[in-house]
Amino acid sequence: MKVRPPRTWTTVLHCLLISGLIVEAIEPVSTSLLLGTGAAVLGKKLYHYFYETCDENWLNFNATGLKHDLSTKLYGQHVAAQVVLKAVTGFMNNENPKKPLVLSLHGWTGTGKNFVSQLIAENIYQKGMTSNFVHLFTATAHFPHEAHVDKYKTQLQEWVRGNVSICPRSMFIFDEMDKMHPGLIDSIKPYLDFYDNLNGVSYRKAIFIFLSNAGGEKIVEVALDFWKDGREREEIQLKDLETALSLSVFNNKNSGFWHTSLIDKNLVDYFVPFLPLEYKHVIQCGLAEMVSKGHAPDKEVVEAMARDLNYFPKEERVFSMQGCKVIPARLDFYV
Ligand SMILES: Nc1ncnc2c1ncn2[C@@H]1O[C@H](COP(=O)(O)OP(=O)(O)OP(=O)(O)O)[C@@H](O)[C@H]1O
Ligand SMILES: [Mg+2]
Repeated sequence: MKVRPPRTWTTVLHCLLISGLIVEAIEPVSTSLLLGTGAAVLGKKLYHYFYETCDENWLNFNATGLKHDLSTKLYGQHVAAQVVLKAVTGFMNNENPKKPLVLSLHGWTGTGKNFVSQLIAENIYQKGMTSNFVHLFTATAHFPHEAHVDKYKTQLQEWVRGNVSICPRSMFIFDEMDKMHPGLIDSIKPYLDFYDNLNGVSYRKAIFIFLSNAGGEKIVEVALDFWKDGREREEIQLKDLETALSLSVFNNKNSGFWHTSLIDKNLVDYFVPFLPLEYKHVIQCGLAEMVSKGHAPDKEVVEAMARDLNYFPKEERVFSMQGCKVIPARLDFYV
């Protein structure tokens, strides 16, 4: 007697056969579909991973990070830290700003103006200062010849327009603003204003930062007065420095920046004063520099270096002549 497989077996076999055929029929398509989708997703991921794009993959404001950096890495600048944090956080949290953010940083040499711009960039762009969306211009390096001002104007306008149309959240830093030709400053003025858009490009999400030593001496006078009166440096408030700044900067007809109507038209949102740095800040900078160079922080080494720097006024030796600027180079001789 032949044993016939039970009906259920044949059904099962049937099903297996049919499903096998179906699987066989669908498999190549679905596999390639799956692989294709996978590759596309992976490709997109890799693209975002390697290629800097103007989106949240590369561009994300970190308010806590900026606050932390300003309070732990920046020394002796309580006023600047406060103003910068407030200005940048307010602007970045506003989904629909009416105009771009325009900051003007002022103060004595080596007090942290470029450094603060770097901290801002690092807390907005993942690549910080090396981001393709951060543009640094230095007056004497990029626009050296007065005779070429007209050419510079066109190039600068094209650069700003082109880059903001690629990435609205672009940042432009103008160093040595007091050495910039007035005509050149005039040429970027429209971008700083309250326009909905200019020729189809909106500049409202961009950030402009101007750096200069203008007003630095007046800021020093205020800081020195506080020191002479035996008052704490931390007591100095923005309003104490604003008057000093306006007296020296706004009325100084020799300074290129102020020939223009940047101020008259209120295009600058915040004037940020940087105080001259004292011996104790030089020590802090020196210790941080040692750590960044991979050494164990050594107070004796840093003190030896700090003692050899120049301070002013000559008698009192209160403020470092070059701020913290020469420390990276000097420290090498003492380590
Ligand atoms: N207040 C500060 N706190 C911490 N580090 C500082 C400070 N000021 C300066 N430094 C250090 O010194 C370096 C030089 O300072 P920075 O270039 O920011 O000075 P600056 O104000 O732009 O001077 P200049 O007016 O000469 O251009 C910085 O990269 C940083 O390492
Ligand atoms: Mg500088």
